[in-house]
Amino acid sequence: MAQRVKLAVVGGRRGGAFGRALEALRERVELTAICDLDDEVLAMWRAHLPDISTFVSYEQMLDRSDCTAVLIATPPALHTKQAVQALETGRHVISEVFAAFTLDECWQLVETVEQTGLVYMMAENYCYGRPMMMVLNMAQQGMFGELTYAEGAYVHDARGMMLTADGEWTWRGRYPQTFNGNGYPTHSLGPVAQWLGVNRPGGDRLLTTATWMSQARSAPLYFRDRFGAEHPAASDDSWKMGDSATTIIQTEKGALIVLRFDAMSARPHNMVHYVLQGTQASYISGRRHHEREDHLLWIEGRSPGSSPRGDAEWESLWDYSDEYEHPYWRELGAVAEQAGHGGGDFFVLKDFLDAIETGIRPPIDVYDAVTWSSIVPLSAQSVARNGAPVEIPNFKRD
Ligand SMILES: NC(=O)c1ccc[n+]([C@@H]2O[C@H](COP(=O)([O-])OP(=O)(O)OC[C@H]3O[C@@H](n4cnc5c(N)ncnc54)[C@H](O)[C@@H]3O)[C@@H](O)[C@H]2O)c1
Repeated sequence: MAQRVKLAVVGGRRGGAFGRALEALRERVELTAICDLDDEVLAMWRAHLPDISTFVSYEQMLDRSDCTAVLIATPPALHTKQAVQALETGRHVISEVFAAFTLDECWQLVETVEQTGLVYMMAENYCYGRPMMMVLNMAQQGMFGELTYAEGAYVHDARGMMLTADGEWTWRGRYPQTFNGNGYPTHSLGPVAQWLGVNRPGGDRLLTTATWMSQARSAPLYFRDRFGAEHPAASDDSWKMGDSATTIIQTEKGALIVLRFDAMSARPHNMVHYVLQGTQASYISGRRHHEREDHLLWIEGRSPGSSPRGDAEWESLWDYSDEYEHPYWRELGAVAEQAGHGGGDFFVLKDFLDAIETGIRPPIDVYDAVTWSSIVPLSAQSVARNGAPVEIPNFKRD
């Protein structure tokens, strides 16, 4: 049996959610160390895995642990710094979303990965959902024709996750008070960028982007209702981030991408919202947690009716699964689904281990990670300039 990858985790909450995926891949990966600032989190891990080494200091974990790879699952503002530290001590890195907060961090990450030659992958698990991968498979086989338009949305009321039980701000509560822009773009952009072949040979490139924000209303109302008008977060001035962001991206080939981000508005969690439009086919996702909606597909020449004639009829995406199910889901779907987050956590880890073991480029490499993450600082720049378009750097320099 090949040597197992010795994995250390920093950030034990989300890191813990990978438990079932790690278990499913136990013949290839061994969890050896965990680092978290919170003793309760460390105690939880020791109770579950008595042999694991635990650390409060990340630097000490990197010094003393014999890990060969690090899973970073701390709040996003720490990701670049911790990834660079791990790479510089010779560890491969898998980082939670998003990868970087600033453009300087994006470049620092690219340069460190290039200099060290180690594996870096971003754990964007939304790319691995069954419908997302089936649409990817169809797009790669040319079923959509030329791709002209795509949408992605991450709409998740996170107001209940903004304070700890002790009344401290979590990272989700802290950064909307100082940042105004699309603050979580990779869930929405990741699958779409893969459909369009962004950063791939013969594919496409993201060129320019602009973001517009609504006013900031729902967060102050929530804190006023819950804690009273005297609470510091109850005043309108304390929230910089508007409730809803719309980001537009133009690609080199002329496709248009529209992203939505909303972590404030009162509504049921709408985990999945995607659209892909090509010259020959159209896809609209069904929304999860809403069983009356199916994933819909229409393919010119195959689906019923004619679009220009006005009698085209949607079909279920699943009518085409015998033909276009992605090989990942065909072969490993049953195992992946048991491992959490709709299979995403399993496939993310599997691809990371494949990249370490074989030296092949991970499917979400450092260039994808920073291209998708750069929407965070670029959206803030655009908003500060009243929605003006800003250029997206070519991180591959090609
Ligand atoms: N892909 C997904 O589906 C998904 C889902 C949830 C969270 N996430 C991502 O996971 C990351 C963590 O999110 P979360 O909701 O678990 O956050 P959280 O605040 O609940 O947990 C973060 C943990 O990191 C620890 N931590 C903070 N600073 C540290 C440091 N310097 N050294 C060591 N430990 C430190 C904290 O003690 C805490 O236990 C974020 O990047 C988030 O975007 C992704």
